[in-house]
Amino acid sequence: MLNLTIMNFLSVALIALVVGLAVLFTMVRYDLGPKGRLAKSGQWFLATALGTGILSLAVKLMIILTVTNFPGTVIEPFIEQPDVELVVSEYDPLLGIPASKRFLWQSLDSQPIAANQVARSSSPYVWQTLPDQAPAPENNPMTSEKVVLGKRLFFDKNLSWDRTLSCSSCHDVIGGSGDDGLPTSRGINNQLGGRNAPTVWNAAFQSVLFWDGRAASLEEQAKGPLINPIEMGMPSWEEVVQRVLDDPAYVPLFADAFGADTAIDIERIAEAIASYERTLITPDAPYDRFVRGDLDALSAQQLRGMASFQTLGCVNCHFGPNFSGASLFDSRAPLRIFPIYPTPFEQQYELTRDTGAAMAGSGRGSWRVPSLRNVALTGPWLHNGSVSELKEVVRIMSSVQLGHTGRYLVWSDDHKVMTKLDRPALSDGEIEDIVAFLQSLSSDMLLERIKLAKGSTDQAIVAH
Ligand code: HEC
Ligand code: HEC
Repeated sequence: MLNLTIMNFLSVALIALVVGLAVLFTMVRYDLGPKGRLAKSGQWFLATALGTGILSLAVKLMIILTVTNFPGTVIEPFIEQPDVELVVSEYDPLLGIPASKRFLWQSLDSQPIAANQVARSSSPYVWQTLPDQAPAPENNPMTSEKVVLGKRLFFDKNLSWDRTLSCSSCHDVIGGSGDDGLPTSRGINNQLGGRNAPTVWNAAFQSVLFWDGRAASLEEQAKGPLINPIEMGMPSWEEVVQRVLDDPAYVPLFADAFGADTAIDIERIAEAIASYERTLITPDAPYDRFVRGDLDALSAQQLRGMASFQTLGCVNCHFGPNFSGASLFDSRAPLRIFPIYPTPFEQQYELTRDTGAAMAGSGRGSWRVPSLRNVALTGPWLHNGSVSELKEVVRIMSSVQLGHTGRYLVWSDDHKVMTKLDRPALSDGEIEDIVAFLQSLSSDMLLERIKLAKGSTDQAIVAH
């Protein structure tokens, strides 16, 4: 049992012990003895007493060292070696997220995070930021000439029948939000449309466009509103081309963008508008700064909201850099049923009157999952613009899409399936946290534009 190192150690210890005892005897014989005026027998007695102390200490040390296998590691005989190895895991075992040296811990007071509550699925959700450029299709590569042309077309009111509306009338990119702020849009002759105008910001990252996802590209989308009778109301694409030809300023712009020999037609018009729209992107939200490494970019409340957004399952549909299952990054599930769970919200906000991409009369709508970037700036919300408070949208989403409505037994008579739902409705605090998180998806640049636009109207009011 004793190995060589221990034998070596013991021999050194033995020599040290002999020398120690010799020193002790010399001290007693020539120093302590005479000073204490001890007789020879007294000196022997003192030396033996002190020597026994040293000896017993040495013996104790040797016993300990022997059983602990000095200079080895674990005290085997007394402490059972645990059967686990320390592993450096790729994932933080508690949160189920990739391990990193920089952890951010936030105390949740009375609500400790249960591991299984956070890591609902085995693969962790990875948060992503928007790239600085939107991808362009091969048949319409980006050029600055096309962007310049597309921008002019986007702002051109001559492209509407009564020359009152341009794309920017309903998608205000100068004022910031990229939409019109109305529940549903107003086209020419003040006609009221049936759907809310989505923002054009970051539309360039979406795999399908429109609330019902009926357009597969920005090029295809741009041709729609021009001839939509309740939007720009042009009778035909030929008429649109004619309006462009009527304006001599366009001739050099088209020549620069597509070459002087290329005919001006609706396809080139759509390509130029789409190229301009690919510049309307906002990778500069506090959320992006946070994910890129600025851990101070989000408030404590926004972090709680971010966690809820994940654990509740909002990320099941609003995932990836553009917070949408219908994005160019990953378009696995572009369309989703909405509303899924029956609730009183359905009647209150007429959520099933328009069923989007679903067949008429199906009772449940099918809608493209919208991006949530800048969503705090684009109210009123939902396809029919029926909800004017973001808090209410979050409440609706959590109940109609995720079933957070309370405890229910649900019997499906069609499918003969019984389901027990045990998902309490979100508290006001949880909802406010999520709203705060959604606000962190607002671009700094857009907020600045909105402030400037507001400033100029304030000034105009003062001037009157
Ligand atoms: C009268 C207001 C109005 C005008 C003018 C208008 N739009 Fe829209 N836009 C809308 C509405 C409403 C929708 C949603 C319609 C739907 O989903 O059925 C929409 C949808 C879009 C989308 C899809 C966004 C997304 O996330 O799916 C884009 C892109 C867009 N418009 C660009 C344009 C362009 C380019 C023009 C000019 C050629 C234009 N719009 C003119 C109201 C308008
Ligand atoms: C099952 C898929 C699904 C889930 C889960 C889901 N959403 Fe949605 N979300 C959608 C769809 C589809 C729409 C479009 C609804 C419509 O047609 O009006 C939408 C719309 C929204 C809107 C309005 C966007 C706008 O521009 O008007 C917000 C905000 C939103 N969701 C937030 C959330 C939050 C927060 C959660 C988690 C509590 C969540 N969603 C969970 C699919 C989902």
